[in-house]
Amino acid sequence: MNIKIFKNTDDIGKVAAMMFSTQVISKPNSILGLATGSTPIPTYKAMQKNYDEGLVDFSQVTTFNLDEYIGLSHSHNQSYYYFMQENLFRGINVKEENIHVPSGTSEDTDKIGCEYDAMIEASGGVDIQILGIGQNGHIAFNEPCDEFPMGTHKVTLTENTIEANARFFETKDEVPKFAITMGIGTIMKAKKIVIIATGENKADAVYGMVKGEIKPQMPASILQLHPDVTVLCDESAAKRIL
Ligand code: F6R
Repeated sequence: MNIKIFKNTDDIGKVAAMMFSTQVISKPNSILGLATGSTPIPTYKAMQKNYDEGLVDFSQVTTFNLDEYIGLSHSHNQSYYYFMQENLFRGINVKEENIHVPSGTSEDTDKIGCEYDAMIEASGGVDIQILGIGQNGHIAFNEPCDEFPMGTHKVTLTENTIEANARFFETKDEVPKFAITMGIGTIMKAKKIVIIATGENKADAVYGMVKGEIKPQMPASILQLHPDVTVLCDESAAKRIL
């Protein structure tokens, strides 16, 4: 793992955005794996700036998001599709038909999951994937469990995740209890992974990811086995690995 520690979270966003922009400049029809949550927002802002300044053209890229809440339609203001429109897609020139976010409203999640993985595979696979990390070590919505899940699948969100995400909803009760998420197997197939962790509340998860035993109870620890992972952390998130 290539670990970089920063004083300032805006610098993390700039570096991550530059990694994405460099990827797109070198391969204009790149396949981008994208995440939601607070962590990637500075990266998405910096990607929009790179686009505004004419450094990069996203017109040929295809995007696949990691996950979506079950029960929220794309037009719901807390859906991850909506988040992506607000925080990234609106500010760059990615084509609507090239955007993929798993459907949170389909009855047959097994079918949707298989189709999503098949679409990623058919596109040639994710060239660069951005990830955040949960306080419990989850990546995407792969929560701590007894076996690493492989493909895109339905998950029951843990109490820890529901609590962490309640800040985006009026009340905790409104947070969906289920989600559809790329599996660990899907994520590990990405050619390059950039994982960002900021804030002291991520310090234990960062320790588990970087120095802990590789086990499904700490999902991010699997990244130790990936050949091309860059970890971008601020000093608070990195405090247990310094
Ligand atoms: C989001 C996702 C999650 C988040 C993680 C951290 O698509 O898959 O794994 O990356 O929960 O969330 P934040 O960034 O809000 O702390």
